[in-house]
Amino acid sequence: MPKLFPEAKSSLRRTRARLTVLAGVFALSTALLSTAFAAAQTAASPASDIWWKHAVVYEIYPRSFQDSNGDGIGDLNGITQRMDYLQNLGIDAIWISPMYPSPQVDFGYDISNYEAVDPQYGTLADFDKLLATGKQHNIRVILDMVMNHTSDKHQWFVDAASSRTNPKHNWYVWNDGIPADSPGVGAFQKKYEHEGKVPPNNWTSTFGGSAWEWVPAVHQFYYHYFYIQQPDLNWRNPAVEKAMFDTMRFWLDRGVAGFRLDAIPTLFEDTQLRNAPDKGGINAQGDPNLSDEYQSNLPEVHGVIRRMRAMTQAYPGNRVLIGETYLPNTAELDLWYGGAKKDELNLPMDMLMGFTNKFDATDFRNHITEAETQLHGSLPLFVFDNHDNIRSIDRFGDGTHNPQIARLLAGMLFTSHAAVLTYYGEELGMPTTTPTRKEDVKDPIGITGWPKEKGRDGERTPMQWDDSPQAGFSTNASTWLPIPPSYKTINVKSEMADPNSELAWFHKLIELRRTLPALHDGGVTMLDKSNTNVLSWVRTLPGHPSVVSAFNFSAQPQTITLDLTGTPAKGTQVKTLLSDAPALQSTTTLKDITLPPYSTWIATVE
Ligand code: GLC
Repeated sequence: MPKLFPEAKSSLRRTRARLTVLAGVFALSTALLSTAFAAAQTAASPASDIWWKHAVVYEIYPRSFQDSNGDGIGDLNGITQRMDYLQNLGIDAIWISPMYPSPQVDFGYDISNYEAVDPQYGTLADFDKLLATGKQHNIRVILDMVMNHTSDKHQWFVDAASSRTNPKHNWYVWNDGIPADSPGVGAFQKKYEHEGKVPPNNWTSTFGGSAWEWVPAVHQFYYHYFYIQQPDLNWRNPAVEKAMFDTMRFWLDRGVAGFRLDAIPTLFEDTQLRNAPDKGGINAQGDPNLSDEYQSNLPEVHGVIRRMRAMTQAYPGNRVLIGETYLPNTAELDLWYGGAKKDELNLPMDMLMGFTNKFDATDFRNHITEAETQLHGSLPLFVFDNHDNIRSIDRFGDGTHNPQIARLLAGMLFTSHAAVLTYYGEELGMPTTTPTRKEDVKDPIGITGWPKEKGRDGERTPMQWDDSPQAGFSTNASTWLPIPPSYKTINVKSEMADPNSELAWFHKLIELRRTLPALHDGGVTMLDKSNTNVLSWVRTLPGHPSVVSAFNFSAQPQTITLDLTGTPAKGTQVKTLLSDAPALQSTTTLKDITLPPYSTWIATVE
């Protein structure tokens, strides 16, 4: 079945070791350390600069960020109230997961009205206030746009499912089914028999069961890649494209900075409805493991994306199109930029780096090099965390050095030659808190898949603001997901007071990226390329000091010598900018540097 989320996910959930909270031991270089959390957005980009090329985009899951009205659920006014925090962190934009009216089967990814705000999150006026407050804080707002499917409660689908002659019927993907005794019909298809008909093929939904659902009123099946309550739109009907582009214009006209396009490779399906090849075995939902080649990433989608790009590009202010693009390799990712033409998405997410779950210096080096060389010069968008995956601190952490490993990942993210996506709580080292009892699970896939698949609640828990009873998230003792026990020590308030905290580390990294021209704009060259334990690179921009990053991926100290010969970097004077190894604070050379286990070292060379 479609590899939307990494396969390692459920096994990682089972084997994950307890998060060890260690006191931070890094010291920030005094030379560059500004007073922590003084307003950070100081760096100047030339006025002609395209903002998203350097952007740090911060994903907010609105249910879980800040509850402003005491109902136990986060809301838009809550986000507005926290704008100072976001500005001080130094981010450029927030991406808000869907806040449109929705029955909330998939917590907003099942939209029933694209041009309004769900009352539990606020009103359109609240949204406009959020946008205006964001503007005052230099924070752009990116919305999530779900185009593959609507909610089954959207009026379009209600109409479509009412009769075959309804004008909306052809807005969705329907099929009459085939006789249950047709040759080649397997046991899986037979489970979905209605009126002697079964689904036209073996396709499964990524969330479990057949991808086809029967509607008695029309005696047909409709197709749904995700939940039954998320019928797929028929993108071969031009009326659908027009309607969806109109909703995008509705928000662009209000002033949003762009969109994160949900599950965008899944817009089209094979016209011949060919059976998906069986990869063998059974997935966490108890269904056959199938290849998704006939259900995802069909070439036709690129035509839609090119037209969408032309539409958004006509707006002033460099609006951005970000894609949720789980793809098999970098060559496929390049197609989503439009290859050499660069006429498709601005920033299709690179899901190949942050979700491999392999903590391996060579793998990261190879992947980053690929992204640097195989995207026709387009900028990658790197990401380690989102609302669909176990938090990276737990996926990459070994249970003993998790805080150091989280710092190393953040060091890579913010000093890489890429735009950056980060997820609320990542800056705190917030761990995943997966439900331990089936009756507590809110995410439907965690209920149907229990105990193999426990769902995505664990990475969606409320933001940990302070150590008061609801962690400063809500005044209501009953929050939509429980406050994780880790809030006592892992929270914004205590981490802001601690210069060695994860939050201070993030803050400093974002500041370095914003203020050092080589990190902001410079190219990247890998160093010490045969080293299997230490990943290192240099960022260079003519006329500015170069910046070297080195990351020890091993549990042993590693001594490295970095040779800049053959790179564009010049100079011998080395000054540490940031390291979690106290001994490296005073490093002045690129020779014989000993990096403690899992440590990070970032320095200028001139
Ligand atoms: C995307 C979202 C995920 C959602 C799915 C269906 O993958 O990130 O949360 O469940 O699409 O909309």
